[in-house]
Amino acid sequence: MLNSLNLPETLTWKAGEFYLLDQTQLPLATVIEKQETLEQVWDSIKRLKVRGAPAIGVAGAYGLVLGLQGKTDLDRPRFLAELERQAAYLDSARPTAVNLHWALTRMVEKANALGDLPVADLYSQLEAEAIQIHTEDRQLCRQIGEQGQGLIQPQMGVLTHCNAGSLATSELGTALAPLYLAHQGGVPFKVYADETRPLLQGARLTTWELQQAGIDVTLICDNMAAHLMSQGLINLVIVGTDRVAANGDVANKIGTLGVAILAHYFKIPFYVACPYSTIDFHTPDGQAIVIEERGEEEVTHFGLKRTAPEGMAVRNPAFDVTPHHLVTGLITERGIIRSPLATNLQQMYAS
Ligand code: MRU
Repeated sequence: MLNSLNLPETLTWKAGEFYLLDQTQLPLATVIEKQETLEQVWDSIKRLKVRGAPAIGVAGAYGLVLGLQGKTDLDRPRFLAELERQAAYLDSARPTAVNLHWALTRMVEKANALGDLPVADLYSQLEAEAIQIHTEDRQLCRQIGEQGQGLIQPQMGVLTHCNAGSLATSELGTALAPLYLAHQGGVPFKVYADETRPLLQGARLTTWELQQAGIDVTLICDNMAAHLMSQGLINLVIVGTDRVAANGDVANKIGTLGVAILAHYFKIPFYVACPYSTIDFHTPDGQAIVIEERGEEEVTHFGLKRTAPEGMAVRNPAFDVTPHHLVTGLITERGIIRSPLATNLQQMYAS
């Protein structure tokens, strides 16, 4: 099924079956892969077949429903224990994006709040909850787009890093949602997409989805952003995030911190877009965010080709943290939150 951007759905739940668009194969092949088991969903999240904070939250919720399909003959306490075990297992796939933990916790809390229902009904309610998380994410992206759309002015150059678009969510994306709505509103602007080493989410995914939508997009290597900024070609930066700490520090794809520092130096507004499910009031600040370290072959190889000497020592942190003072504003479904972020986040989400 195609969404309103004419892109294939990132995630599809249909008659108890779960399908993912395999993002590791984009843009060369569009492969929709059926998920058969809980373990396969864990692996798809780990390998980034499905990726992006909101999308892995939705995948986690559907993964749980899939994993519980064969368990409806258990009695209620055992079913609930199995639900908790599966949720903890899926949660272990990737540590940084809080949306995965958020969605799994929401599913477990839903089941516990349902009272003494027959297990078959519990299962149906959990399936409905996963569909609700998915539907809500679609709505949240649209609202983020509406809140941020006004930032996109005619003839602007907008830089984005990684992929926080349709592929990373249920439809319009977070960072890309304002761009999609501005484009639909007839505003002419240009996007620069950082390639985003090592896994090239910018080069493979952001360019692909913006190109499909007919948006003017130019790909640059990560180390070209400073030069373009110095030439006055970039007037605005918008990125997504995997977790916003209570003080407004934001974790996002490795390289985001560098872009934020550059934006600060060149006095370019730096916005971060996210739904409420990415805001984590339990994490006081960016230092408390667990940064995922991934395999060294992602750095020693470019695609399948080795580009570094054998035996080379490697670091591969997949995310970094941008301190709140470098963030001009957080574009959320409720509005744009500006400095002081800690106070204004609390105020906006106190309820
Ligand atoms: O490792 P990835 O590709 O899952 O990293 C994704 C990002 O860093 C995105 O910018 C973030 O999840 C926001 S997605 C709306």
